[in-house]
Amino acid sequence: MTNPAEHPSDRTASPRPTALITGASGGIGLAVALEFATTHNIVAIDRDEARLADLATEADLRGAQTLTRGADVTDEQALITIVAEAEQAFGSLHAVIACAGIAPSGTVETTTLQDWQRVLAVNLTGAFVTARTTIQSLKKSKGSFIAIASDAGTTGAQDLAAYVASKHGVVGLIKSMALDFGPDGVRSNAICPGFVETAMMKHIFKESPEGTEDYYRNTVPLGRFAQAIEIAGIARHLTESTYANGMTYAVDGGSTAGYFQSSTSPQN
Ligand SMILES: NC(=O)c1ccc[n+]([C@@H]2O[C@H](COP(=O)([O-])OP(=O)(O)OC[C@H]3O[C@@H](n4cnc5c(N)ncnc54)[C@H](O)[C@@H]3O)[C@@H](O)[C@H]2O)c1
Repeated sequence: MTNPAEHPSDRTASPRPTALITGASGGIGLAVALEFATTHNIVAIDRDEARLADLATEADLRGAQTLTRGADVTDEQALITIVAEAEQAFGSLHAVIACAGIAPSGTVETTTLQDWQRVLAVNLTGAFVTARTTIQSLKKSKGSFIAIASDAGTTGAQDLAAYVASKHGVVGLIKSMALDFGPDGVRSNAICPGFVETAMMKHIFKESPEGTEDYYRNTVPLGRFAQAIEIAGIARHLTESTYANGMTYAVDGGSTAGYFQSSTSPQN
């Protein structure tokens, strides 16, 4: 971790806006943190604290001061403390990107009540807690709140009942925030990625009855999965898009544009 207090001269020489990212240890959250590290100071939160040290080193090379904290996004008190520390070090937050999420498979028949509650807690309540604990700071800076929802926030998906329900909830939360805080100058938007090459994607494929990566690749009109950096680029774009508010931004290679049958799929 780079302790911001150790570099007070950097702040004076180059005042930067501040971005807070949850789920910053891996996958999309890590890519978002590194993308924003070129222009922002970074507040990085993840339940996997060990891997945040690597992020701090990389962010430092990009000129960012970084505050890293291990925390579960469902822990409101922990986030209140982290946001207070961040404001003390850097001032108000300008961008918040809620990336933390989990995706265990299951239908309503095979998902236990405990698993259902955990998915809703991390994906939906976690986004709520992140919003609730950062909104005062964002109001001060007229900043941007982004949640990484999913294409499963706008369509159904087989064998992912709790995940789909949680991501539909995230999209609804963002739309309500756009109405509630637009008048304060805070913009709220949801990014809905399709398949992105991360540990989560590999986990979903492993659990899936269809099994192979080729099967899923053939469902994407662009014929490939996204890289996490491509989602990070959209997060930057939405943060800088001063009239974007309440958007549900599909970044899925065309997967939700309509029915698609690949010319390379086995049926043809
Ligand atoms: N990978 C995809 O194909 C894909 C597609 C659409 C949406 N998404 C969404 O993007 C987000 C990031 O997914 P990813 O693919 O990078 O997953 P990932 O598993 O690679 O990374 C998720 C990160 O969140 C952290 N995390 C999980 N639960 C947490 C908690 N309770 N508190 C704090 N940190 C927690 C993990 O430690 C991990 O570092 C998720 O919300 C996911 O639902 C992913």
